[in-house]
Amino acid sequence: MNNDDLKVKITQLFENSNTADELEKARVEIFGKNGLLNSFKKEIVNIPPQERKDFGLKVNSITQTAENMFSEKKDIIEKKELEEKIKGEKIDYTMPGKYRRQGALHPLSSVLEEFIELFKVFGFSVAEGPEIEKDEYNFDMLNIPANHPARGMADTFHMNHGYVLRTHTSPVQVRTMLKSKPPIKIIAPGRVYRKDDLDATHTPVFHQIEGLYIDKNVTFADLKAIITGVFKNYYGQDTEVSFRPSYFPFTEPSAEVYVTCSGCGGSGENCSTCKGTGQIEILGCGMVHPNVLRKAGIDPEIYSGWAFGLGIERIALRTCGISDIRYFYENDYRFLRNFEGV
Ligand code: FA5
Repeated sequence: MNNDDLKVKITQLFENSNTADELEKARVEIFGKNGLLNSFKKEIVNIPPQERKDFGLKVNSITQTAENMFSEKKDIIEKKELEEKIKGEKIDYTMPGKYRRQGALHPLSSVLEEFIELFKVFGFSVAEGPEIEKDEYNFDMLNIPANHPARGMADTFHMNHGYVLRTHTSPVQVRTMLKSKPPIKIIAPGRVYRKDDLDATHTPVFHQIEGLYIDKNVTFADLKAIITGVFKNYYGQDTEVSFRPSYFPFTEPSAEVYVTCSGCGGSGENCSTCKGTGQIEILGCGMVHPNVLRKAGIDPEIYSGWAFGLGIERIALRTCGISDIRYFYENDYRFLRNFEGV
């Protein structure tokens, strides 16, 4: 076959290909191992040496032309086949859409985040500390003596080498005071661990937000105003927030704060949540003990401060209107989905 015949043959093969299968057959017939182009190349042995260069150039030019024709035809066929496929498809606009559930925050995370935002409004910034904490920061630096019952094996998860799983977020106070000078105004959200038996208001792992405010002339009145303000903002202005005297080794004076029980609405009747008291304790607080300030290198003659530690699970009980903390940890989606966006 001469040069011109080959070109005509190749052109015909592509012109007669109207489907992807036909085009594939044409491709093999032209470019395949025993195809037209290879057979043509083999004729070089019959060409006198001085004409072989020209022959080579012709082969290259025909190959190039064939490749261009192939890709053009391929595009045309693919486009045509796609158009036919689309023409054959009918869209039923009345079909219901595919429903994809959107994830949502766990109610405990939502409550935690909301409190962080509420305290930020009062000028608090967020500080963090480790969950595996030095025994010294969790207890000693907070004026908790070596023989205090909370330090015992029955109450605290002890690790090796003087470390514990922190029993409260208060060691973040210590860490903050050691590295910064007053004025200090921080909140420290996080997980804490205690060997508490599981019941309607206790879990061995729970969340707290610590608050610490130290400056000159800071008083208990500021503490009361901010805590009351935050909880009235959160639960509503008519919420009763009551302070009762209490004891913590790291604050003096100390108080516990209570809100109306979500289990019985305050009546206390047959209520396993508040055990008949009508109220639930949600946080501990007080004026930072001078010993704690001194141990952290802050002069209690110049500065005063207050601190609090609130329990997110207890607060979330009322937010979600439920009576038992254990529901939060059962991970039952039927329960959790009721509180998307609380
Ligand atoms: C403390 O943990 C103190 N560190 C709080 C504090 C900080 C006082 C700063 C003064 C100054 P308490 O043990 O009372 O205090 O715990 C604080 C809150 O955590 C409680 O009011 C309660 O809301 C919550 N809480 C305590 N134990 C549990 C538990 N086992 N499960 C769920 N929530 C709990």
